[in-house]
Amino acid sequence: MALRDSQPKTIHLKNYRVPDFLIDKTDLVVELGETETRVKSTLAMRRNPESEDWSVPLELHGVNLQLQSIAIDGDPLEDDEYYLGGELLSIHRSLNESFIFSAEVIVKPQENTSLEGLYKSRNMFCTQCEAEGFRKITYYLDRPDVMAEFTTTIVADKSRYPVLLSNGNPVASGEEGGRHWVTWHDPFKKPAYLFAMVAGDLAHIADTFTTASGRVVDLRIYVEEKDLDKCAFAMTSLQKSMAWDEEVYGREYDLDIFMIVAVDDFNMGAMENKGLNIFNTSAVLAKQEITTDASFQNIQAIVAHEYFHNWSGNRVTCRDWFQLSLKEGFTVFRDSQFSAAMGSPVVKRVQDVNLLRTLQFAEDAGPMAHPVQPASYMEISNFYTLTVYEKGAEVVGMIRTLLGPELFRQGADLYFARHDGQAVTIDDFVAAMGEVSGRDFSRFMHWYRQAGTPRLDVAGHYDAAASTFALTFKQHCPPTPGGSDKKPCLIPVAMGLVGPEGDLPLRAEGLDGATHAVLEVAEAEQTIVFRDVPVKPVPSLLRNFSAPVKLHYPYSRDELLFLMANDSDGFNRWEACNQLSLDILKHIIAARVDGHHLVLDPRLVRAFRGLLADQSLDKAMVALMLTLPSEALLGEEMEVIHVQAIHDVRREVRVAIARALRGELLACYDALQLDEPYSPEPEQIACRSLRNTALAYLSLLDEPALLDRIHGQAVAFANMTDSHAALVSLVNSPVPAAAPLARDALARFYEQWRGEPLAVNLWFQAQAGAMLPGGLERVRGLLEHEAFDIRNPNKVRSLIGAFANANAVNFHRGDGAGYRFLADKIIELNRLNPQVASRQLTPLTRWRRYPHDLALQMTSELRRILAEPGLSADVFEVVSKSLANLDNR
Ligand code: PHE
Ligand code: ZN
Repeated sequence: MALRDSQPKTIHLKNYRVPDFLIDKTDLVVELGETETRVKSTLAMRRNPESEDWSVPLELHGVNLQLQSIAIDGDPLEDDEYYLGGELLSIHRSLNESFIFSAEVIVKPQENTSLEGLYKSRNMFCTQCEAEGFRKITYYLDRPDVMAEFTTTIVADKSRYPVLLSNGNPVASGEEGGRHWVTWHDPFKKPAYLFAMVAGDLAHIADTFTTASGRVVDLRIYVEEKDLDKCAFAMTSLQKSMAWDEEVYGREYDLDIFMIVAVDDFNMGAMENKGLNIFNTSAVLAKQEITTDASFQNIQAIVAHEYFHNWSGNRVTCRDWFQLSLKEGFTVFRDSQFSAAMGSPVVKRVQDVNLLRTLQFAEDAGPMAHPVQPASYMEISNFYTLTVYEKGAEVVGMIRTLLGPELFRQGADLYFARHDGQAVTIDDFVAAMGEVSGRDFSRFMHWYRQAGTPRLDVAGHYDAAASTFALTFKQHCPPTPGGSDKKPCLIPVAMGLVGPEGDLPLRAEGLDGATHAVLEVAEAEQTIVFRDVPVKPVPSLLRNFSAPVKLHYPYSRDELLFLMANDSDGFNRWEACNQLSLDILKHIIAARVDGHHLVLDPRLVRAFRGLLADQSLDKAMVALMLTLPSEALLGEEMEVIHVQAIHDVRREVRVAIARALRGELLACYDALQLDEPYSPEPEQIACRSLRNTALAYLSLLDEPALLDRIHGQAVAFANMTDSHAALVSLVNSPVPAAAPLARDALARFYEQWRGEPLAVNLWFQAQAGAMLPGGLERVRGLLEHEAFDIRNPNKVRSLIGAFANANAVNFHRGDGAGYRFLADKIIELNRLNPQVASRQLTPLTRWRRYPHDLALQMTSELRRILAEPGLSADVFEVVSKSLANLDNR
């Protein structure tokens, strides 16, 4: 375990040096055992001709390894010929230009609770090497710019572990006594973080994909026998991803076999190991009885994401971990395009923007704010963030918006062709885009190197006499830890001007009459004047959310209603509704904080009534528009987060809407009952989402008959989407009559699904997120439940994570008990699994945003964590940064 014996060091991008040694071939023999595992490595190494210093000794990374022996060119090293210090093994023997390094180590996967390196998940052995887990398997140059050809032999007990997998192709196998072995060879050079191996008693489903050039690829999904009935959806998703990447990016798969393995204990969603993706069961297993529509969509996206990494990540990889967004930002962008193409592009965009605004903007405004290309880190695991992934994807999307689809594709082609087989940088990616377009990206690079969300203030001025409309843009990026002097970014602003008859032709410098334009806002302040504008228009700005900024335009509520009905951009119709809801809620909340009660602006109810009445609208969009901004987003929008006022006002407004639109909501709920068999296809998903949005409103009404129907939907177990939606509504309903129904539905749910861990996770989550009083007590009780296990990250996220992140009123209770609870759990997790511990910290690190008395209690818990002996680098970095004075870093 990476426990800290001294303060962790900060690693800086500016100190990057090429490796002094390279590894051409890596040969591993892994002998798996019930108490210990023996790893024999043979590395064909040489000095890097590009190294700046040929006198430096060879130093290899290694963590928690019991060294048995080392040899150079077959000659064992004496004790004084090497030095083991911290996480480095240094070799003190003069070395030839090329040589064979071999070592034998013992590791203890059964004791490895960090889920990094080689570990056991239930009865199977598996690995997780990104970012720096390979050093927990053997001594190595564990950095992504050292790429080797791997041959791996796995030896194990045949009856317990009949299936032995690694990267590439199986090339040999055999058995002896009760043990058997399989050798895998991966012809593609790769960094150690893409290594994987699995051993277990696994079943699989198989299918094929024929590539555009006619090669037949064997596709397999390996799971425990009991989960074989939950693999079909992921398989179809994989085949769709493979076809899409050929069609849209011209990228074919390159090995003869592609495998996915599902494991229950996994720190993240999934991992793109070459030819052998390892997935969290939650990111791959699906069937309608236990999987919600949202999960189906998530699974399709993650399968695609990991598959797309085969090119954006594996064939072309990262030079160092500061370039993480090179693969992650680009790959998230690619999977978003894919999901958009598989369903409704606007719905997908709204979902992505909601995520970005709620979580990434918060990160960018908090103590861990960092650029998409960070300049430094202590623990790289802490930088698998919304900024690197989601904002990184936005930045790639902006490049595409600026270049247009054809040039962007040419740029991607050039990037892949030029850097195939290399470990490169974000600058190499942008250079390819610059070369095909002849554009200068220097100002654009601030998006990669500056933290913080730019704020874009826009003012409009209509001159009726001159028939001109002027838009003035002012951009400003707030200071973030370690950076206060921010440069203006190049912001692509997709826009139109909407008049009573629709979009007006745009005439200005460089624009001659199209109704849609992408303005390039690059200065701190700049103005564009549109000519021949016959009427005062309403500008539609940042269409499809063309840049990750906080846009401010002084729209009146009537102008927002106008855009909601008339904008030609689907995203901005939703955005107008969203801004209207936000504006109305924020006013009522602000008044509430001052002790005043405002009435709800009737225009919101009228607008919602219109949405429910209009049969021509996309149901998924209506559902999104009828859903009020989340408490988290409302909090983000306020100077100081007043948790109770936000919660109360949002609930009261929902009750008011439910009362005013009872008839319409009920009609919608009744009309959208589907009688076709379930399928996770977009049209059905849209129907269910609107119907369950109506149900959520109806659950707030004190009407026994309605509550009975909701309870009936929960316990009919027709499909998980409907059952889960009804359950969540019941457990959150403030109506007293709902309480016994919620209790009954929860009990029946558990009875029904106690054998399905993924369904049980939903059950934990529903209770952890229930906002009625007493939440902490309920969560404490559930920690003792037979199905809870703190070593399983999915369980931690479903119970502890859901409580701290999705149950603000209970987590932020005035006596600080929610904070104490979370800190206690983080201290416990720190010893078991530092990555999970560190991720659970996020809500506490946001203390600056809360009223003083809460902030004080949050910081006192952070200090208590910091005082813990044996704090991991992961937790130390986040806690210390969140407590640090903003201006002295
Ligand atoms: N590289 C993985 C992905 O984004 C995420 C991951 C990172 C998984 C680190 C495990 C460990 O696809
Ligand atoms: Zn990824």
